[in-house]
Amino acid sequence: MINMRDELRDLADIFYLKIIAPSSGVNVGWIRKTMMSLGVRDENIDNLYIINAPLSREVWYYVMMRMYEERKLPAFLNILLDRVGGVNLGGLKERIESLGIYYEGGRFGERTFNIVVLASGRGTNLQALIDAVEDGRINGKIVAVISNKKSAHALIRAKNHGIEAIHLPARKVESREEYDRRLAEIIDERGANLIVLAGFLRILSPWFVKRYRWKIINIHPSLLPAFAGLYGENVHRAVLEYGCKVSGCTVHFVDEEVDHGPIIIQRCVEVLNDDTPETLGARVLEKEHEALVEAVKLISEGKVKVEGRRVIIKR
Ligand code: GRF
Repeated sequence: MINMRDELRDLADIFYLKIIAPSSGVNVGWIRKTMMSLGVRDENIDNLYIINAPLSREVWYYVMMRMYEERKLPAFLNILLDRVGGVNLGGLKERIESLGIYYEGGRFGERTFNIVVLASGRGTNLQALIDAVEDGRINGKIVAVISNKKSAHALIRAKNHGIEAIHLPARKVESREEYDRRLAEIIDERGANLIVLAGFLRILSPWFVKRYRWKIINIHPSLLPAFAGLYGENVHRAVLEYGCKVSGCTVHFVDEEVDHGPIIIQRCVEVLNDDTPETLGARVLEKEHEALVEAVKLISEGKVKVEGRRVIIKR
């Protein structure tokens, strides 16, 4: 049985019962061709070669899952609608919103998952996200990169990839919340679904954290709660001085305390006898890039739920 979101299964069932099952014309060969025309990856189509028509419900679920994962579902469903006429979605119309899909005026469409990245420095974590969006591992769009530092290399990385790069310096006489209100205005104008702190060297005000509850994530280069509140090489130096045998990184939701919110993903690295803060930091950084991409991917797919301090991931 294919493990899929309830909304997707219900949507699949509506199409299966009303269109696929009664129609002798919709078979695996046609589905395969349609998937190809929409640019679905070969490996996701290959499995269908061994199947003969007619389409079973389980195969139909497989197709819907692949289309959903590759963000081709609305386009695919519109092709089906063209072929067989309209469909009555009933109460599912609202529920499919959580899949990032809408149905209006008899057409399906997709709401994009918009990401805003806040960064103050070199931006290697930002780069990992840019790469993952560009090669399709993350179905979303980085709509802006905002930095409090004019010289942040992260801004150059954004520009190099055609992403809006915004320098938002703090004013001399301005409270933390006043800065955050200006920041929020920019974020809201761009319709952000997720705010990623990727080396953003400012503490956010309680006002900001509350406004975007469980919509802000941070990456920290240690296994929290150990070594919270430190940054840069100081973290790795402290890990070595303490004599830890493992270290790693943590991606977590942001709450009112620094490096404290519910943990989404952690990755470990072994501490080696001859490690320096630089060598350990470099290995942790590699894990950061993986963990951050995975966390954003899971969140963008709606698979992450916060329950108290625990984050439940539906895979
Ligand atoms: C990373 O180590 C991250 O964990 C911390 O700040 C650093 C940012 O690095 N929050 P980069 O700018 O993404 O290269």
